[in-house]
Amino acid sequence: MKKKLLSYFLFSFLLIINSCSKEDVIVYPPGLNNRVEELLVQMTLDEKIGQMIQVDRGAVINNPQDITNYYIGSILSGGGSAPNNNLASGWAELYDAFQNYALKTRLKIPIIYGIDAVHGHNNVYGAVIFPHNIGLGATRNPELVEQAARVTAEEVAGTGIDWTFAPVVAVPQNERWGRTYEGFGESPDLVKLMSAAAVRGFQGIDLGSATTILATAKHFLGDGGTTNGKDQGDTQGDEANLRRIHLPGYLSSIDAGVGSIMISFSSINGQKMHGSKYWITDVLKGELKFEGFVVSDWGGIDQLPGDFKSDVQTSINAGIDMVMLPYDYKNFFVTMKQLVSENKISTIRINDAVRRILKTKFQLGLFERPFTDRSLTSNVGSAEHRAVARNAVRQSLVLLKNENNFLPLKKNYTRIHVAGKGANDIGIQCGGWTITWQGSEGNITIGTTVYQAIKKAVSPTTQVTYSSDGSGAGGADAGVVVIGEKPYAEGAGDRSYLNLSIEDLAVINKMKITGIPFVTILISGRPMIIDDALSNSNSFIAAWLPGTEGDGIADVLFGDYKPTGKLPHSWPKNMKQIPINIGDVNYDPLFPYGYGLTY
Ligand code: BGC
Ligand code: BGC
Repeated sequence: MKKKLLSYFLFSFLLIINSCSKEDVIVYPPGLNNRVEELLVQMTLDEKIGQMIQVDRGAVINNPQDITNYYIGSILSGGGSAPNNNLASGWAELYDAFQNYALKTRLKIPIIYGIDAVHGHNNVYGAVIFPHNIGLGATRNPELVEQAARVTAEEVAGTGIDWTFAPVVAVPQNERWGRTYEGFGESPDLVKLMSAAAVRGFQGIDLGSATTILATAKHFLGDGGTTNGKDQGDTQGDEANLRRIHLPGYLSSIDAGVGSIMISFSSINGQKMHGSKYWITDVLKGELKFEGFVVSDWGGIDQLPGDFKSDVQTSINAGIDMVMLPYDYKNFFVTMKQLVSENKISTIRINDAVRRILKTKFQLGLFERPFTDRSLTSNVGSAEHRAVARNAVRQSLVLLKNENNFLPLKKNYTRIHVAGKGANDIGIQCGGWTITWQGSEGNITIGTTVYQAIKKAVSPTTQVTYSSDGSGAGGADAGVVVIGEKPYAEGAGDRSYLNLSIEDLAVINKMKITGIPFVTILISGRPMIIDDALSNSNSFIAAWLPGTEGDGIADVLFGDYKPTGKLPHSWPKNMKQIPINIGDVNYDPLFPYGYGLTY
């Protein structure tokens, strides 16, 4: 017995000696955290700082060797920051060329490339453009949202890109806000449901698969709640209420495994989110146990009070892991080194940031597959992908009025007159964040306009005529008028008034005078004040920003598919009612949240 005990002690003693002597040559078993630690211990401070840098394509396109020299860890394309060859193939070449510079570094850590693929791979010419999130919210169909995100992920992967700055999980509370259309709707429950679906679609069950990409829940926290709907403004209220409205989308995204979260330009009760250690470190990383990495918004740290040095100190110490600078990487590099040498930023904080970033790069399989999978490149904008978007368009349409069952239209009328600028304009149909940051009117990418779709849908003997101002409608059997907003993005879309334009009212009046029955289709990023337009139209459809697949609208107009969309926002009677949201006291909208007719 005694002997046994002695040998046991001897054995354990030997084990301890053995493991101590091996301490500096630790061989980690295969496993994610071990790969991260193995790499991290080899890294110099310079190499770590590099991983925390994100620059725009434009910052390094003419001096790509800086990717190597500054160990740059991430590149993005801001809205419209495209290669000269803006086809999928041009993007793949751009990505691979940048990646080659990253692989020339001592430790060969690949870059992670991010982009705003917020309604399809929207910067790329010929990519399929989905309805903006407000339209997806109207579908009330999370499976469809997941499918749309999966298609988008495949198109993004086909250009080499690893990461989308989507979904927007904002809960827009005031339709004056120019980013209302980027959110799924005004209800936290709807946002919660759809955000998780989008994350699942982008990331799949295996981030390492060739067809999945990293998702970003943005913008943390409270972007949709600013006073007067001012973009990048201040969100006020007591914390319990702010959490109730704005947190659910993050909870469900984190549950679904979202790999990154972007900080909001906006403030909460006067404090800029980019400097909030409470929200980023205590709540997000602590309480909510978010294990991915936190990225700043575009130059977001520059909006903190103080100079650049204090901006960097405050934001990194608040818990931001990667900074979308997006240009001044040299300054950031020097500043970070200074702050570390002055003990104003700790190695612990830097290691936390770099661990999170490296872990994600391993999860994405970037070390194994750093280059574009060219077999996916030719699928960008494929017929199969367009079919998914067409289905999303059908389900996103909300029928608000249908007097005497005017809809569905008949395919065999003698003549249909189509009117309104928005009826034959892909750019208007797509809205902001399409090819360029702000989007623009005109023939900006491949797709089918409403007018073209109607011509395809009708019988061979039906004549379809068109005028942008409504002239020439007299004598037709039926009319289709397309009115609404012109493209905009972010603060450029903030509006004090959401009334229809004089031009739009004039088209409707002209149609009304001819006496033919007509349906009005509103293309807009939010509910608008429609009073007379509604009463003057026989039928009225809110189509949001449907994207490139106008056929989805014709499918519903002619009754091949019944309308099923439900309002993702309460529809106000007038501007005085805004902000108006489901659950308000004295709730008296023109159409309530969830409204939508069918046939
Ligand atoms: C927007 C973000 C976007 C970033 C990069 C910012 O202006 O707020 O939503 O991801 O630009 O384009
Ligand atoms: C970029 C956008 C970005 C914006 C921020 C633009 O120049 O293209 O992506 O969101 O700046 O203000």
